[in-house]
Amino acid sequence: MTEPLKRNSTTPTEFRAVEPSAAEIQGHHDYMAGAVPPLIRPALWSMREVRTRLEEMADDPHLDGNTRYVSLRSTDGPNNSTIPTMWVTIHLLKPGERIDMHRHTPGSMYYIISGTGYSTIDEYRIDWEDGDSFSCPSYSYHEHWNSGDRDVLMYTVQDAPTYAYNGMMAFQSGDSETMAFLHK
Ligand SMILES: [Fe+2]
Repeated sequence: MTEPLKRNSTTPTEFRAVEPSAAEIQGHHDYMAGAVPPLIRPALWSMREVRTRLEEMADDPHLDGNTRYVSLRSTDGPNNSTIPTMWVTIHLLKPGERIDMHRHTPGSMYYIISGTGYSTIDEYRIDWEDGDSFSCPSYSYHEHWNSGDRDVLMYTVQDAPTYAYNGMMAFQSGDSETMAFLHK
């Protein structure tokens, strides 16, 4: 007697044939022609323009600490990346604002351009000031607080495009019991 398969609420229960258009058999030359993506061009993002954009966003009542950031995108690269494996953002946190606790599969590096505050990374607390850098490993819970009386400008580098390319972008907010995969 075969035990019934155990299922959870997300396990598929109906199946169909794969689509023939998803597969191709290639020879050596065809493979090599597409195996290495074209190089992207170097790019410059002006801090003067970044500051102007963030100052405009500071007046937008629909934005808060979680959403007031600019993303530095290469117009040549995939997935809105900065370089194909990395994603850079610059955040503006007003005094008293925070980025809510969450975690995700990509790891992060932070550089505090200006301002004072602190972050929690899992059970650790990191107090920071102008010029400090700190890390948040993959899938650690983190939150960031501006506890000073000046705006915080925070430069963040994440390996999100690398995870996205492998279908491994997962996110969990600090008030949720479940992890969500962001891929459709
Ligand atoms: Fe994060």
